[in-house]
Formats: sequence, structure tokens, C-alpha cells
Amino acid sequence: MSNPILTIVGARPNFMKAAPVHRAFEARNIPHEIIHTGQHYDDVMSKVFFEDLGMPKPSVYMGVGSGSHAVQTANVMIGLEKVFEEKKPPMVNVVGDVNSTLAAAIVAAKLHIPVSHIEAGLRSRDWDMPEEVNRVVTDSVADLLLTPSPDGDENLKAEGKKDSSIVCVGNVMIDTLFMNLPKAKAIDVPARMGLEHGNYAMLTMHRPSNVDVQETFERLLGALLDIQEKIPLVFPVHPRTRARMKAFDIGQRFEKAGNIHLCEPLGYLEFMSLTSRAKLVLTDSGGLQEETTALGIPCLTLRENTERPITVDEGTNIVVGTDDVRIRAETDKILAGEGKTGRAPALWDGKASERIVDAVMAFLDRRRASR
Ligand code: UD1
Repeated sequence: MSNPILTIVGARPNFMKAAPVHRAFEARNIPHEIIHTGQHYDDVMSKVFFEDLGMPKPSVYMGVGSGSHAVQTANVMIGLEKVFEEKKPPMVNVVGDVNSTLAAAIVAAKLHIPVSHIEAGLRSRDWDMPEEVNRVVTDSVADLLLTPSPDGDENLKAEGKKDSSIVCVGNVMIDTLFMNLPKAKAIDVPARMGLEHGNYAMLTMHRPSNVDVQETFERLLGALLDIQEKIPLVFPVHPRTRARMKAFDIGQRFEKAGNIHLCEPLGYLEFMSLTSRAKLVLTDSGGLQEETTALGIPCLTLRENTERPITVDEGTNIVVGTDDVRIRAETDKILAGEGKTGRAPALWDGKASERIVDAVMAFLDRRRASR
């Protein structure tokens, strides 16, 4: 096989999933390249992850940048069509559920290039989430569906996908977590911020449903202002959230609260240095629900639903929604030492990337044999 297999990345949550996949292909001397669409472009949203995770520079950086969903998705599609026509990859891997994932899957499918979807089968059943549209459409055109947990297999089978196209490979983001945790712990970011290990909470919030709606954002702010009186909150602010804080004129209320440590988005190692020693995590992120389950740290998910139910069934996650009364009550329980304990789900063992390479190569062998 001479042409490289391509893995497409675009936005922050893609990078920690692509890094171990690249390493696993490289370890077996299988040609593999990373293509970056440029959906995220700030150094703190992109470059720092390539550095922290020891990823090679992408072989192509497209620089599509921000835009409405249609504009961003279309620009990724236009750029990737040229890349795929030139590189003629035997397979395109897409990861996660961002706009770049959807765009890459459609372009490859139309060029008759096989598509594998890493993190297939997750469903929130919340059609208001742009990611849910991306997940369902990506899975509908993908040839190889690589799931992180058995609920993903069940969702796909219920949608009529063939058993032979589904492989449960486990959670590849946990490969990155296990590999980098010692390095993350070696840099003591909590100490640098004057925080005591196990005695602060991490907060992340960037979902449009939470930060684009002023009433919801203010309700969440009310709960957070109460919580910070009981425990320090560390809040790395996503660019979307920063823009909304300004637009709604609520940035000052965060800044005035004495116990909220606002900062720019953090790199992977700094973020994990903080998260791995937190008492609890409050978040609307998808990935963080999984990382807290793997770390055994209580997580309160500030959303009405989750596409990652295994983190609730087996892990440390509680989906609390945006009800300020419930958020305060569940936080109090954790602070009183009554936080949820859990276990890491099967195949969240740091070896998912090896199973991904096995599954991709088996798929390509079957395809060659059938021609
Ligand atoms: C995207 C993903 C979301 C993921 C999130 C993680 C989609 C539909 N959404 O949402 O699933 O959880 O990334 O961050 O793909 N911006 C910058 N610098 C950047 C990137 C963005 O300033 O490097 C600003 C821009 O003003 C942009 C806004 O943030 O308009 C939102 O960026 P966008 O990529 O559209 O969506 P995210 O909210 O980041």
C-alpha cells in the first residue's frame, strides 16, 4: 500500500482522538497522514495540542476558519475534495462529531473512498445539537463504524447498519489520557494557580444551547456564583463563551466573583494537570464526561441529555441539566463526600488505537479480496 491513509481533524476535540491513531499506524509502518481543515485555528485551540500530544504537523492545513454551519461545512468540502483527488487515499478516517467530520465523510463517500468513523454510534437524540446531525449523517455514509462502547453498536444496529460494518474498539481518547497523565501530573498547574489538590472544581461551558441563550447562561451563572462561595472554580473560557459573555454584558459578574479563576483555553497537559486533581468537574463538553469517568472524578453535566450514557450507567457522570437548584444540590452532595463513584467501561484501556488500526487493515484486506 503506497498512498497514505488519511485522518481528518478540524476542531479541538478531534486532536486527542487522532494523536494515538497516528502513532499506532506509524508503529506498524503503515503510511498515514493527518489533514487539518482549520475549523479551529487559534494557537490555544489547535497548535498547542499538536505540541502537547507530540503529533506531527498536518500534511495539509486548509485554514477554513469560522462561519455559519453551511459556510464552514461547504468550505471544508471544497478544500477536501482537492486533497482527496490528489492523494487518492485507500481510506479516510473521520473522528468525533464536528462539522469537519461530517464534511470529510460526505466528500470521501462521493469519491468512492471508504470512510471509517472513529467514535461512531453515539446518539443524544437531541436534534437541536449540531453534533447530533453530524453524527447521524456521518454514520449513514461511513463504511466502517468504530464505536467506543456497546451502546454505540446498539444504536447503529437499531438504525439498520450491518453487523459486519460495526466494530467496538473502545475509547481512543482514553489512550491519550493514559499516555499523557504522568506528564500532566508532573507540571503542577494547581500549585501555580495557588490551588490545593482536591479542593477546587473545574468548569467548562461552550455549547450553543448554554451560552448562546442569555436566560440560560444567566441561570447557570447564578448557580456558579453560589458554588464558588464553597469551592474555587477554574474556568478556561472557550472563544464562543468569551464572545457571549461580552455580548450579554456578564463578563464582569464572573470577574468580580472572588473565587472564579478565569483563564484562556488551556493546552492538553495544563488542562489535565488541573482536571486530574479536581474535586469535581462541571461541564457541557462530551469528552470531559468520558475523561472524568476514566479518572474517577465526579462530573456534573450541564445539559439535558448525553450521547455518552455509559458515563452515567458505569462512570461518575450525572446529567443535571441547566436547573440551578439541581446543580447546587448535586454539587453540595459531592462537597459533602457523597459524590458518585464508578468504574472505567470495558475497552477504555489505552489500547483503542491499536484495535482501530486492526479494524481498518482488516476492512481493507476484505475489500481487496472481494475485488
Ligand atoms: C466546535 C464543535 C463542537 C466542539 C467544539 C469544541 C461543531 C458543530 N462544533 O464548536 O462540537 O465541542 O468545537 O471547541 O463542529 N473561534 C475562535 N478561535 C478558534 C475557533 C473558534 O475564536 O480557533 C470562535 C469563532 O468566533 C467561532 C466560534 O468560536 O465563530 C465557534 O467556533 P466553531 O468552530 O464554529 O464552533 P465551536 O463552538 O468551537
